Amino acid sequence: MNLRENVDLNNLPKHIAVIMDGNGRWAKKRGGLRIFGHQSAITAVRETVEAAAELGVECLTLYAFSTENWSRPAMEVSALMQLLVSSIRKEASKLNKNNIRLTTIGDTASLPAACQNELKEAMEMTKDNTRMTLVLALSYSGRWDITQAVQKAARDVAQGNLKEQDLNEKAFEKYLSTAGLPDPELLIRTSGEQRISNFLLWQLAYTELYIMELLWPDFRKEHLYEAILAYQNRERRFGKTSEQLTK
Ligand code: IPE
Ligand code: IPE
Ligand code: MG
Repeated sequence: MNLRENVDLNNLPKHIAVIMDGNGRWAKKRGGLRIFGHQSAITAVRETVEAAAELGVECLTLYAFSTENWSRPAMEVSALMQLLVSSIRKEASKLNKNNIRLTTIGDTASLPAACQNELKEAMEMTKDNTRMTLVLALSYSGRWDITQAVQKAARDVAQGNLKEQDLNEKAFEKYLSTAGLPDPELLIRTSGEQRISNFLLWQLAYTELYIMELLWPDFRKEHLYEAILAYQNRERRFGKTSEQLTK
């Protein structure tokens, strides 16, 4: 069955977030090192970006490296950082050609200088692109995001730029790293784990979750269509009753 044909283009999620999980297990099943799994995940990333842009999704956020991932063996961390540099170098001009804007969320100042430079160049090159925003979550965690937002808001209050009573949800969101982006309507997690792993804690408040058993390196366009179709069959009630929605 061609899943893409069944996707309702008038009811696309504007923002899709993905927890790309299962690279290590994918490699282990093949008797390889975890790093082999990370290398093999690049195709999945490419397919996801392409499929999302082709459909007309406005924003795609990929969880590539969490705050907690710094605790992995040094060899794995450094291989991931090198892979990040080489992939961005390889893919940046293609993103640009496809009118895709690259941006990041997370504590990117903690990344190695080579990564920061590569990211900076790619973001500069693509900054005016309008077809889709690709957000890489790097050295990211939801608690980090909320904490840095509170710090910035507190600073603004202390400096008299913001009144405490004006700090409502809308105002607070401007301090989050995702300021300006809509909340994700759909979160996809591969590898079957039923958890958020400190991803977009604030932004996922009413996001539809789609967890698949598939390991991330096996993810292809069809899987994105599958997740979107599942999303399109959900009833998003936002606390209301089903009857209220159909009125
Ligand atoms: C996801 O795959 C990639 C990163 C977290 C960087 P994992 O490396 O977590 O793979 P598993 O979960 O151990 O199989
Ligand atoms: C979540 O995967 C982080 C990324 C995909 C980058 P993990 O593999 O780190 O998550 P846990 O630790 O199993 O929850
Ligand atoms: Mg994992």
